[in-house]
Amino acid sequence: MLQLENVTHAYDGRTVLHDVSADLTERRIGVIGANGSGKSTLARMLNGLLVPDSGRVLLDGRDTRRYAKEIRRRVGFVFADPGTQIIMPTVGEDVEIGLRGSGLSRIEIEERVERILRRHGLDGHRDHPAHLLSGGQKQMLALASVLVTEPEILVCDEPTTLLDLRNVTMIQRTLRTLPQQIVLLTHHLDTLGDFDRVLVMDEGRIVFDGVPDVAVAHYTQLMRRRLDDPPREEPPEPVGGEPAP
Ligand SMILES: Nc1ncnc2c1ncn2[C@@H]1O[C@H](COP(=O)(O)OP(=O)(O)OP(=O)(O)O)[C@@H](O)[C@H]1O
Ligand SMILES: [Mg+2]
Repeated sequence: MLQLENVTHAYDGRTVLHDVSADLTERRIGVIGANGSGKSTLARMLNGLLVPDSGRVLLDGRDTRRYAKEIRRRVGFVFADPGTQIIMPTVGEDVEIGLRGSGLSRIEIEERVERILRRHGLDGHRDHPAHLLSGGQKQMLALASVLVTEPEILVCDEPTTLLDLRNVTMIQRTLRTLPQQIVLLTHHLDTLGDFDRVLVMDEGRIVFDGVPDVAVAHYTQLMRRRLDDPPREEPPEPVGGEPAP
């Protein structure tokens, strides 16, 4: 189980996570919240990409500070922009690189790569230059390259943000069928309908934690209130010249 214990974090002296605690026991957990509310910062802590200034992040009781390597293997991470994640020239090589040093035989590696490409609709693209794939195919490849390493948990930071409706649906369906525990950050609120739990983040805190429809309603109201009551702006300096007609 992933646990956040009193996690606080600042960038350049500005605190962006304030004393966040949660036990992530459910199989499918969504995280929503405004831009800049701290979702990605939190997500990066779940596999040790980032360690908190204070507090602890634990996987089965093991601190990400001490067990970074093991935890990074057990918790896979998918980014919004697959371009940042695809590192090899061809589709097949990009999937295969994750299995380097795995101790699997050549034949086992071949089989795993074939299987995962087939499952993600990329069979036939094995020798294709990765950068020539469509946006949706690139996101499928990024997902495949993480899943081939068989992580127990998958953290996805807005995997559908850059995609068109067809590819959003494709990724949503794929995520739905995975056996892994999933922590999904998204602005596509309709993705979360059948999730077990949704966290709403605001200004570095979890401000709601519950079932999807109530969480989405909470978030929607929060954003509506903020639109109705925006932060006050200084009035513009009066400038000289002709009055407007
Ligand atoms: N590497 C960094 N250095 C400095 N500040 C950062 C860094 N990463 C994030 N921040 C700041 O931390 C705050 C939280 O950012 P974060 O990326 O976690 O938000 P988010 O909820 O994921 O937003 P979005 O919905 O836009 O992805 C923001 O104010 C952001 O500017
Ligand atoms: Mg983010």
